[in-house]
Amino acid sequence: MNEAIRPSRQIPPQAAVVPQLSVIVPTFNERDNVTTLYQRLETALAGVAWEVIFVDDNSPDGTWGVVRGLARQDNRVRCIRRVGRRGLSGACIEGILASSAPCAAVIDADLQHDETQLPKMLALLQAGNLDLVVGSRYIEGGNADSFNRQRAGASALATEVARRVLRVKIADPMSGFFMIRRECFEQLAPRLSAQGFKILLDVISSAHGQLRVKEIPFSFGSRLHGESKLDSMVALEFLGLVLAKLTHDVVSLRFLMFAMVGSLGVFVHFATLYTVLRGFHAPFAVAQGWAALLAMTSNFVLNNFLTYRDQRLKGFAILRGLVLFYLVCGVGLAANVGVAFSVYAQQPIWWLAGAAGALMGVVWNYAMSGLFVWRKR
Ligand code: GDD
Ligand code: MN
Repeated sequence: MNEAIRPSRQIPPQAAVVPQLSVIVPTFNERDNVTTLYQRLETALAGVAWEVIFVDDNSPDGTWGVVRGLARQDNRVRCIRRVGRRGLSGACIEGILASSAPCAAVIDADLQHDETQLPKMLALLQAGNLDLVVGSRYIEGGNADSFNRQRAGASALATEVARRVLRVKIADPMSGFFMIRRECFEQLAPRLSAQGFKILLDVISSAHGQLRVKEIPFSFGSRLHGESKLDSMVALEFLGLVLAKLTHDVVSLRFLMFAMVGSLGVFVHFATLYTVLRGFHAPFAVAQGWAALLAMTSNFVLNNFLTYRDQRLKGFAILRGLVLFYLVCGVGLAANVGVAFSVYAQQPIWWLAGAAGALMGVVWNYAMSGLFVWRKR
């Protein structure tokens, strides 16, 4: 072993208890729930060396402040406050990777999951012949009776799609409550998507059947305080994850949304062109100029709200982003026309040349926007 990383022989006494279990709690506006959850963990995990890591996306209600308060009293509590980012999956990934116990559990902050199952889950993993234990609502003994009909239907549909399309075998791949061996998670981490909220489904499908999984039943309760953060965009994100996993991560949801917004932009372009030409009797070049400007602007706004909603630009950054977006699209247009010309020169098939140009344009715009406009801070 390298001298530098050899552990020192004299381990300080306060470090003697190293956690066997890291509990990861993603939070967004859960101020009134975190203390209760902490207390319940303390009760449920008596006798276990555990730690809890709250991953908070800079909640406006100040959840991170409450967690800091807990951490000041108990060094088993930690808070990761993420600024400028949003997303359940990303938060879970970051939390697990920030810990080092051999087992990591993910549990919601709102007490809908059953923390009293944690010791049993840990014992199952520690027995050594499992990699992942899932808290399941859809096996004998479990239930999701707290769901309203709409939510129950959506959950059943998503579960069915996941099981058929991604050939995921477990009964509840949509569960947000599970425990995994660190070693397995570290291996899978680079393949996981930080977008969306289906971390468990992502873990299972990315492992391609290599994980030894067991489900244990639990009863999905009602939220203690606050409200759910899952909105209608979640359905789209779910489809995106299915698609990404089906195509082995070649097609991402972001790219699809970007392309979709782009095709809407084509409509905006033609509608503006028509209006300015016919309505204002402007010369063609002027009308075309306005059409392009309006299409780019609406694309920018839509991308900022949908495609990059987890990295949404705000305030002055919007203006800067818009200017950069114009530049990126300008060069993209040149690339589009260039490629179309060269394809047409070899094979004078108008639609083939047009399609090649458009594809070049959208790939360029997507790649460059990701690099310059909505770059990760
Ligand atoms: N850091 C962070 N960032 N945490 C988040 C975010 C986010 O963007 N969105 C939600 N959370 C946290 C919430 O604060 C909560 O602790 C947990 O993630 C679950 O979010 P809820 O808003 O309570 O989701 P839900 O109850 O509707 O959905 C739950 O059940 C689903 C099964 O039907 C979650 O466990 C889902 O993962 C699960 O699929
Ligand atoms: Mn919830």
